[in-house]
Amino acid sequence: MHKIMDGFYEFQILSAAVRFDLFSLLQRPLTRDQIRAELGIAEQPARILLLGCVSLGLIHKRGEYYQSSDAAAMTLSRDSPWDQRSLVRFSHEIAYRAMWWFYESLHENSNVGLREIAGAAPTLYGRLAANPETERTFHEMMVTVSKLVAKRFVDSVDFSAGGRLVDIGGGGATNAIALARRWPGLEIEILDLPSVIVPTNRAIRDAGLEHRIHTIGADCFLADFPDSEHVLFAHFLEIWSPEQIQLLLTKAYRALPIGGHIYLINLIQQDDETGPRTAAIISAYFLTLASGVGMARTWKEYEGWLSAAGFEPLARKSLTPTHGLIVGQRQ
Ligand SMILES: C[S@@+](CC[C@H](N)C(=O)[O-])C[C@H]1O[C@@H](n2cnc3c(N)ncnc32)[C@H](O)[C@@H]1O
Repeated sequence: MHKIMDGFYEFQILSAAVRFDLFSLLQRPLTRDQIRAELGIAEQPARILLLGCVSLGLIHKRGEYYQSSDAAAMTLSRDSPWDQRSLVRFSHEIAYRAMWWFYESLHENSNVGLREIAGAAPTLYGRLAANPETERTFHEMMVTVSKLVAKRFVDSVDFSAGGRLVDIGGGGATNAIALARRWPGLEIEILDLPSVIVPTNRAIRDAGLEHRIHTIGADCFLADFPDSEHVLFAHFLEIWSPEQIQLLLTKAYRALPIGGHIYLINLIQQDDETGPRTAAIISAYFLTLASGVGMARTWKEYEGWLSAAGFEPLARKSLTPTHGLIVGQRQ
């Protein structure tokens, strides 16, 4: 029980250490005095920060020397290929203060926590468009999460016949780039908000894929979806209400030929509604901050909405313990 009650202290210890980039610094053993000098903080604060990190198992202390634990070095240091510091930065800069409004959001049935992000748009995504720094923090987090899932996704599908795929809310092009590399016959079109498209185009150019991945800067609720053989919604439908999900699936239905495929990648809630923990956390985040109407839905819910929109659900597959892929075919 105390682990939960004190969770916010533990997060702040972690977040401060990441802001100091302490786990990169402590790839090699250093004394407290050396660390204090590197961080530019006084002796007692250094002692408090190190005590916190050692007690949480993020840093090991051997004699006078401190060094990052293997887990911290792997996930929280700049040189690691599994660097997840962007997730901590996202929680600190975007989600942390907003989540203080969870109780009020439950009462109001809306994203009361959005008041912590400057602007007037009704969703986090709309407000990020007016906050380039914060938008960058969001997308760095999203790319880190998506990369882990995209690897599994591109090996779970068969696009050997090629064709055109439309990626709705395709964000930083993580899925599009992974798909284009794995399946050379695919042509991909990303539709996302205009403010997102500029950095997305940069990522596509950096990957050398501008001849195969194209972008449309538009609101998916206002723009028609381009005709295609495949439609992908990745980490996207959980943002929206059942009515909005139904509308988006109907738009996908119109854009596809008979036999065309739809791919849904989502944080999935178990059908018995008992978890997993990530589905619970992300649901609180969608209510309090992101949109006020979304949550992690169950496999059954998505399959029901697919059927109602005219698709046959063909397959469901767990990509990670928390991310699920559902494939449907237009009837
Ligand atoms: C959680 S991110 C997922 C990004 C990407 N699909 C991925 O898997 O990495 C949600 C994306 O939806 C986009 N988005 C939000 N509202 C949108 C709208 N009304 N029309 C189009 N894109 C939107 C955001 O800009 C963001 O890139």
